[in-house]
Amino acid sequence: MAHAFSHIPRSALPELLRRAPKAELHIHIEGSLEPERIFALAHRNGLTLPYASVDALRAAYAFTDLQSFLDIYYAGASVLLTEQDFFDMAWDYFLRAAADHVVHAELFFDPQTHTERGVPIAHVIQGLHRACVQAQAQLGIDASLILCFLRHLSEDAAFEVLEQALPWRHLFIGVGLDSSERGHPPEKFARVFARCAEQGLRCVAHAGEEGPPAYITSALDVLKVQRIDHGVRCTDDPALVQRLAQERMPLTVCPLSNVKLCVFKTLAEHNLPQLLEAGLCVTVNSDDPAYFGGYLNDNLLQLVDALPQLGPQQAWQLLANSFEASFVAPEQKAAWRAELDALFDAAARDAAAGLQA
Ligand code: HPA
Ligand code: ZN
Repeated sequence: MAHAFSHIPRSALPELLRRAPKAELHIHIEGSLEPERIFALAHRNGLTLPYASVDALRAAYAFTDLQSFLDIYYAGASVLLTEQDFFDMAWDYFLRAAADHVVHAELFFDPQTHTERGVPIAHVIQGLHRACVQAQAQLGIDASLILCFLRHLSEDAAFEVLEQALPWRHLFIGVGLDSSERGHPPEKFARVFARCAEQGLRCVAHAGEEGPPAYITSALDVLKVQRIDHGVRCTDDPALVQRLAQERMPLTVCPLSNVKLCVFKTLAEHNLPQLLEAGLCVTVNSDDPAYFGGYLNDNLLQLVDALPQLGPQQAWQLLANSFEASFVAPEQKAAWRAELDALFDAAARDAAAGLQA
């Protein structure tokens, strides 16, 4: 088979991962707000934060579960008011993504977090969109937006924000489902997801992060999603793992997030190698990088460092999966795959030459 990279030395892996083209498919743009930016925006908007300093805020980032994180995440996002604020937040992310050789990013945003505070949805979408356009023009990053519904709120509230967003339908490619998972099963949003599918929107949902495997099944069967965000708890149900493998249903896994939110105790105990081994289309992503201690390359590098089962072959697979699972045209996927393969092929040739010398 053409793509055999297992003889690339492990020592070459960090540099290879850093330099490789990659797609990021699970990043909440509000989760990229660094404490410094939160304080700067609070100052610009004349708001007072309940934290004395950047360090005091960062010190509060000690989470015990998803909800303990969400409380701080929504508080952080409350400094965003103007179109420029949303632009600045996304631009900060794109600069970091470019440094990580991210060539494609699909950004989640949570409009209800902002519209509930009286921020017009136009400010949210137009600011983020302007940053996406500039990312393409100045950084060569292809970026698109996915509107997420907050699952702790009602389906009526989701319908309401969808109506507000439809005038900007051309500026986002899909919808997702995030926030507090337990007690808020995908079925709660069956009608609004059906409406989104009619609009030609792509559908994804967080499922099986803290919630049971049954939520993954209902995201697939009721919401008819095309990707599962997180999904790591599928291993509690072997038949579901088999189904996900058979359907090549992508899972957007977020290793550092999972450790920070106590889904796994350590990276060394993460089940990602097991998922890859089972033939699932697993991708690696940063989720909320400003809160979880790292951007995309940090996730990839720390993961392979912690898990000896993940060698060059698996690293290549994870990046190839990121393109396979992306919402872009087949020709674009093929072009990025060719770039990725060329880089790994060159490393494999270097390894072979080294062995002969
Ligand atoms: N899970 C659910 N909701 C979220 C997350 C997450 O990891 N990050 C931001 N909103
Ligand atoms: Zn997430």
